Amino acid sequence: MQGKKFFFWGIVILTLFRADVRKRGLVKNVRSKKLFDRAQRNIPGGVNSPVRAWKSVGGSPRFITRGAGAHIFDVERKRYIDFVASWGPLILGHCHPKVTAAIRQALKRGTTFGAPTEGEVKLAALVTKRIRSIEKLRLVSSGTEATMSAVRLARAFTGKDKIVKFDGCYHGHVDGMLVRAGSGVATLALPDSPGVPKAYAIETLIAPYNDVSAVEAIFQQQLGAVAAVIVEPVCGNMGVIPPESGFLSGLRKLTQKHGALVIFDEIITGFRLARWKQT
Ligand SMILES: Cc1ncc(COP(=O)(O)O)c(C=O)c1O
Repeated sequence: MQGKKFFFWGIVILTLFRADVRKRGLVKNVRSKKLFDRAQRNIPGGVNSPVRAWKSVGGSPRFITRGAGAHIFDVERKRYIDFVASWGPLILGHCHPKVTAAIRQALKRGTTFGAPTEGEVKLAALVTKRIRSIEKLRLVSSGTEATMSAVRLARAFTGKDKIVKFDGCYHGHVDGMLVRAGSGVATLALPDSPGVPKAYAIETLIAPYNDVSAVEAIFQQQLGAVAAVIVEPVCGNMGVIPPESGFLSGLRKLTQKHGALVIFDEIITGFRLARWKQT
């Protein structure tokens, strides 16, 4: 009799647990999948940045509802340790009380003005004080705008057109940066993405990451034509690949020798990998 009782209550608990699991969509990320289906009706690919696409991962991206400290929670109410940290900026984690208090204060004064503000002046001064190599800076809203502006500036400054980038490095969806390696080091690159005109793509030359001699070969072939070399100082867009010793300094020396510039795209690495000292 006692055994039957336990068996009965065991079944009840198991049934309730399974119903709860189903209700909360814990089994197959049902809610994320539904949202992804809906998203694809109005958003190309269902995501607003290639770095959020899950095509090569499989399944559907997780839709996030909130973050707290080092964790994020998805629509299934699953908790994850957040190793992405919004690709870098959330160095203090989610909803740090000092950060949210500052945002709240700023919101009271308005959101956007289309005119200069004192805050921009203070921020620019703070950044230039921290990083000695920065003399002046332009504040922009996205990484794509930042790399696009840097490339344009390099071309204007040097009066040259070609840009060297590395196979596997991502610098946003600027036309000329959506290009991968051709068959050889200095071959004309092919557009990686439909919609990028060939005329833009041929201005981008591809070298393998961590290979200074390949860059040197490009400089030799394209004498006097290269405006800049753009690089992720620690590559974060083909897995994490640290620069080999001498790679970054080698690029600096090469560009100096050939009257070109080197652009460190620190969209991910900036203020994260080094303790910038106040000068
Ligand atoms: C190194 C690097 N540069 C530029 C970008 C483009 O930034 P955004 O998506 O803000 O345009 C990214 C985005 O992931 C990036 O990882």
